[in-house]
Amino acid sequence: MLTDLEKRSIDEIRSQYETGAAAIVEALRVIQDARGWVSDDSLRDLADYLDLSPSYLESLATFYSMIFRRPVGRHVIMVCDSVCCWMDGAEDLVAHIGERLGIGLGETTADGRFTLLPVVCLGACDQSPAMLVDWQLHGPVSPDDLAGILALYP
Ligand code: FES
Repeated sequence: MLTDLEKRSIDEIRSQYETGAAAIVEALRVIQDARGWVSDDSLRDLADYLDLSPSYLESLATFYSMIFRRPVGRHVIMVCDSVCCWMDGAEDLVAHIGERLGIGLGETTADGRFTLLPVVCLGACDQSPAMLVDWQLHGPVSPDDLAGILALYP
């Protein structure tokens, strides 16, 4: 069930568009920001609220890698795996993060602190290899930078 606060935020977003469909991604973000991720129940509730089919919302939610359809840790690290970052060492960066945190892509640390995910080009190719932590851009990131960056997210 959507909360009153979520409904108000979604109404405000919806008022900026001609159709409910145009507001879907931002509405999903409202839920994700409030709950950390978008569960099947939340997705169905949002579909009801926007008067759209759950399968349509599901297709969009699955398409956008920044909509989390599974629970995530307190902080989400998204490492760009597109061409520029890949050429500049993204694979190595993921390996170092994984080694430091003891997780692989798609996994969450046992203490629930971090989730590590791949993401497509962040539009920061001039800062490759780039990554987001909780939507904050870091780049270029070298393995030597990791300890300092991760320490920013307790
Ligand atoms: S390829 Fe990584 S930010 Fe563009």
